[in-house]
Parts: sequence; C-alpha cells; structure tokens
Amino acid sequence: MKRIVTMGRGGTGKTTFVALIAKHFIESGITPLLLVDVDPDQNLAEMVGLDLSDEGKYTISELMMETFLEGGGTTVGVPPSERIESRIWEKGLYEGSTFDLIAVGTKFIEGCYCLPDAALKKALENLTKNYEYVLIDSPGGLEHLNRRIMTHVDDIFDVIGPSQKSFKHVERARRIAKEVGIGFNNFYIIAGHRVPTEFEEMVQEQVKQYLGKITYDKEVEDYVFKGKSILELPSSSPAYASARVLLERAGYK
Ligand SMILES: Nc1ncnc2c1ncn2[C@@H]1O[C@H](COP(=O)(O)OP(=O)(O)OP(=O)(O)O)[C@@H](O)[C@H]1O
Ligand SMILES: [Mg+2]
Repeated sequence: MKRIVTMGRGGTGKTTFVALIAKHFIESGITPLLLVDVDPDQNLAEMVGLDLSDEGKYTISELMMETFLEGGGTTVGVPPSERIESRIWEKGLYEGSTFDLIAVGTKFIEGCYCLPDAALKKALENLTKNYEYVLIDSPGGLEHLNRRIMTHVDDIFDVIGPSQKSFKHVERARRIAKEVGIGFNNFYIIAGHRVPTEFEEMVQEQVKQYLGKITYDKEVEDYVFKGKSILELPSSSPAYASARVLLERAGYK
C-alpha cells in the first residue's frame, strides 16, 4: 500500500495532478484505488466526474457531526473511532468500479476538535489499509498539516507556482511536516503548469528532489471549466503525458 499526498499553495494545480495520477493508475489497472479529498472546497470529486450527494454519500465532517454532536450517547462502550469508521463505510465511502472516494468535508466542529480528529485518524488508518494506492488531495497552504490526518505517507508531491513564495512554501512545508510528526519517504517538487519553462533550471537549483513540470494543456482548462471529468481526457493529452513522466521519475510504473 502506498500513500501519495499533494501539497502546495493555492491554485498551483494540485487537484488536477491528483486526477491525472488517478487516471494513470486506473488505466494501468492498478486497483483498488482510494481518493481522499481533504480540501474543504471539495474539488476532487468533481474533477473525476463524481457528485457525492447524487450518490447518497456524506462527507466525513457531516458524519462526525451526526455521530458526535447529534447522535448522543446511544452507543456507549463503542470507541469513537469504531463508531465513525462504521459510519464512513456505510455512508461516506463512494465505491466505484475503478476507484473509491471519500471527502473529509467542511469545517471541523469548534471545541470538539481533538476527539473527532483522533477518531478520524484511526478510522482512516483502518480504511486505507485495504487499498493498493491512496491519493490524498490537500487544500492550499499548510494549516491542514496541523491536523495530521495521516501520520505516515510515502510520497509528498509539492506543486509549486510561478513565484518566490512557492520556494519558501516548499521549505516551510518540509519543516512543518517534520515538526508535526508526519512521516514521509520522499518530498518531491513539481513545477505547476504556470511555471514558465525558462525558470525550470532555477527551480532545479533551488529545491531538492525536483521532478519536472506539468505541461500546460488547454484541454485541461476546458475540462475543468466545463466540469468534465479529467479521467476522460484523451490519452494524447500533454498534461496527462507529463504527469506520467513525473510519476515514473518518482519510481512509479
Ligand atoms: N496542466 C494544466 N494545464 C492547464 N490548466 C491547468 C492545468 N492544471 C490545472 N489547470 C488549471 O488551473 C486551475 C487550478 O487547478 P487546481 O484546481 O488543480 O489547483 P489546486 O492547486 O488544486 O487549487 P486549490 O489550491 O484551490 O485547491 C484549474 O482550474 C485548471 O483550469
Ligand atoms: Mg485543489
């Protein structure tokens, strides 16, 4: 089992990259595959052509609210992580023919933060064990790291944008991930589609484990704008081809 996480500042192309990786794994027959959307904005489902509420599924936040705030104490004796885990299986996990998906969802409940987060962590640990690959899409910025939803991941892909701040982000992200105790094997850097090719050399000099750039692709822009699934991009898509090259450089087949 491998866990892959994206990171980066807002709008650098993280979610699109996750969708492109998912497309590659699906087309290579690498399953079972779980997609986890940690971003409160919940873009990932849409990018892979899914509407969770149409599927009758709830975000984990919604299920936590029900379980811990509205549910009361009817299941005394059952540990919180088990309670939430069974809810997630039943009402949170979308199970498709080529991938499964869960969304963490919106804000966490003020003042009732530690218990649900601990329960969520444990539940996710158990849930993710069943998959060959787990792809996690993070919100922009670094605050989410404090929640430590996953304590160990294999590879982090930090997608940078065309600014100096992106370089600073990389260093801070690496440091904070370590400080809060998130274990990882690799912290790869990827240049997002908006990083001009002529700056690639500079990027390479400034950061370790630089893998390359995601190619700008007008079709991707169109698909996202129209709400079409990235999974349906043609195999000839330049962005898709570049994502596959980056994965290969990171040691994936
Ligand atoms: N390879 C690409 N070529 C062209 N446009 C792209 C590409 N990848 C992403 N985009 C465009 O960039 C926009 C932002 O991409 P995306 O939503 O993946 O970024 P993000 O980093 O996940 O953003 P956020 O921080 O808000 O979650 C998309 O709306 C899409 O139009
Ligand atoms: Mg995103």
